[in-house]
Amino acid sequence: MIAIGCDHGAFELKNQMVEHFKKRGIELKDVGCYGTESCDYPEYAKKVTDLVTSGECELGILICGTGIGMSMAANKVKGIRAAVCSDCFSAQATREHNNANVLCMGARVIGPELAFRIADTFVDAKFSNDERHIRRINMFD
Ligand code: RB5
Repeated sequence: MIAIGCDHGAFELKNQMVEHFKKRGIELKDVGCYGTESCDYPEYAKKVTDLVTSGECELGILICGTGIGMSMAANKVKGIRAAVCSDCFSAQATREHNNANVLCMGARVIGPELAFRIADTFVDAKFSNDERHIRRINMFD
C-alpha cells in the first residue's frame, strides 16, 4: 500500500495522482488534505510518515508547493528517508541507493505528466541492497 498526502497548494495534483495510480490498478491511501483551503503541510507529512513507520504502507508520496517543506517535516521522523525529486533519474537513484521510502514533489515546480512519471519510477524501483548503500544508510538512520 502507498500513502499519499498534500497541502492546499498540491490538492489538484494529489487528486490527479490518485486517479493516475487507479488506472494502473494501484489504490493509494489518501490522507488529505481534501480541499484548497490553506492548511499546514507538517500535519499531512505526519499522517503519511505514521503509515510508513507503522508498516501499514511501504511507501509514501507527499506533495506541497515545492516539496521542500514536506521533505523537511518527513525527514524529522526516525525511519523515514524522504527525497524531493523533480526528475526520474533522482527518483530511481534514491530508491536504489538511499532506500528512500517517501517521495516528495512540488506541484508549483513540475507539471502533472512529469509528476506521474517520477512517481511511477519511484514506486517501480527497488533498493539495490548493496552492502555499501546499507552501510551508508545505517550511518545516518
Ligand atoms: C504553501 O504556501 C507552501 O509554503 C507549501 O506548499 C510548501 O511549498 C512548503 O514547503
